[in-house]
Amino acid sequence: MKFGDKAIFKITDIDKKGRGCGTVGTRKVCVPFAVPGEEVEARMVARKQGVVRMEIDRVITPSPARVTPRCPYAGRCGGCAWQQFDYALQLEMKRSLVNKSLASCTSDATIDAVIPSPSLYYYRNRMDYGIGPNGELGLKEPGRWNAYVDLDTCYLLSPESVEVMRIFRTYLREENLEPWNVRTHTGYARYLVIREGKNSGTRMVMIVTSTGALPNREQLIKSLQPFATTIYHGINPTITDLSIASELELLHGAPLLEERVDGKTFQIPVNSFFQTNTEMAGRLIATAREFLADRPPETLLDLYCGVGLFGICLASSAKKIIGVELDADAITLARANAAANGVTNATFIAAKAEDLLWRGEQADTVIIDPPRAGLHPKVAETLLTLAPERILYVSCNHESFARDFAALGKKYRITKSAALDLFPHSPHVELITLLEKVP
Ligand SMILES: C[S@@+](CC[C@H](N)C(=O)[O-])C[C@H]1O[C@@H](n2cnc3c(N)ncnc32)[C@H](O)[C@@H]1O
Repeated sequence: MKFGDKAIFKITDIDKKGRGCGTVGTRKVCVPFAVPGEEVEARMVARKQGVVRMEIDRVITPSPARVTPRCPYAGRCGGCAWQQFDYALQLEMKRSLVNKSLASCTSDATIDAVIPSPSLYYYRNRMDYGIGPNGELGLKEPGRWNAYVDLDTCYLLSPESVEVMRIFRTYLREENLEPWNVRTHTGYARYLVIREGKNSGTRMVMIVTSTGALPNREQLIKSLQPFATTIYHGINPTITDLSIASELELLHGAPLLEERVDGKTFQIPVNSFFQTNTEMAGRLIATAREFLADRPPETLLDLYCGVGLFGICLASSAKKIIGVELDADAITLARANAAANGVTNATFIAAKAEDLLWRGEQADTVIIDPPRAGLHPKVAETLLTLAPERILYVSCNHESFARDFAALGKKYRITKSAALDLFPHSPHVELITLLEKVP
């Protein structure tokens, strides 16, 4: 098959990126923005690691679940892979993806249904909008690492965040700021990060550049102020395409973002992680509490604890909490958050989970909530050696969960599991499982 070749074929499956899959001749192909059951006419646009990607020219037989998306960029923008499908189908596709992963590692667990998000739009509390090679401000096209859709609206964060984008886009153009070039590692303007405390009414804006001071910044601050309780200028001089800034200058307002979940208040540093769907974070905590309810933990080790969300919310049901997290700023705030919420039985340690000497800790219950890549092999090894009674595994990637459970399954079985939709219109889904030691 050559670039530009066209074919008419049926979509029979979805892949882990939420793309429709089908077969052209004998070759398996993937097609963003198509779902099983549809017949499409598509054109070959890329081949990467043996996978052929095609782009839809025409949907010949649309799925009955195809709906008119709210966002005019749906079907082009990588931010929402599934906005053009009704929510019931999205949940069903997530259920099927989770169950495929579970089936690959155990016969003990399946998910009957994915718990839906109450909000389908404006549900996120953080967006990182990139700046494309032609000064576009927005999100990447699917499968293209350097092609951006220039967004003048977006339904993921809030209407106010669209105003922030509008102001920043005008500033970019008026000041003629050079976009960061990911090929040559030159240029200046890199990211616009917007974070919101949905339950506190706070909004943090960070402009990330590669170097130097922002030109005409007083005017920029004045224009953004009505929409931002905090404004930062962050500098990321490295070649890594990330919105994390190693140097920070506070230009306006409070230094931290504030959010409330499960009746607790959290202060969050600009570079630190927080669950991106605030409403569903509360549901996640409620599920964790329910899974552990039959036996209150003595010592609860909260690995990958961020600013202390799980440990602080569950502190009243455990004798002792120990939180561990790589990000030292998050740990400083986890301590402050515990104190501010009246939690006196928690200790927080800044360390890599894989480097921690757990031997003195004797935890009977361990929560693990790692990044998408899953557990470092040393963490799985230590868990198997110290063998706590229960492990509550919170995973934003069911595939890495399945890989980790292939190891942990030597001593544990899954006794409770739930999947929660923290990310409507995307193929992502949060999986929470209780692993209990096999006697
Ligand atoms: C999915 S987040 C979970 C955070 C927290 N449990 C929450 O719900 O807010 C994963 C966290 O793991 C941290 N992290 C990444 N690698 C780590 C490592 N090797 N050891 C400890 N923490 C790590 C990240 O900084 C991030 O805060």
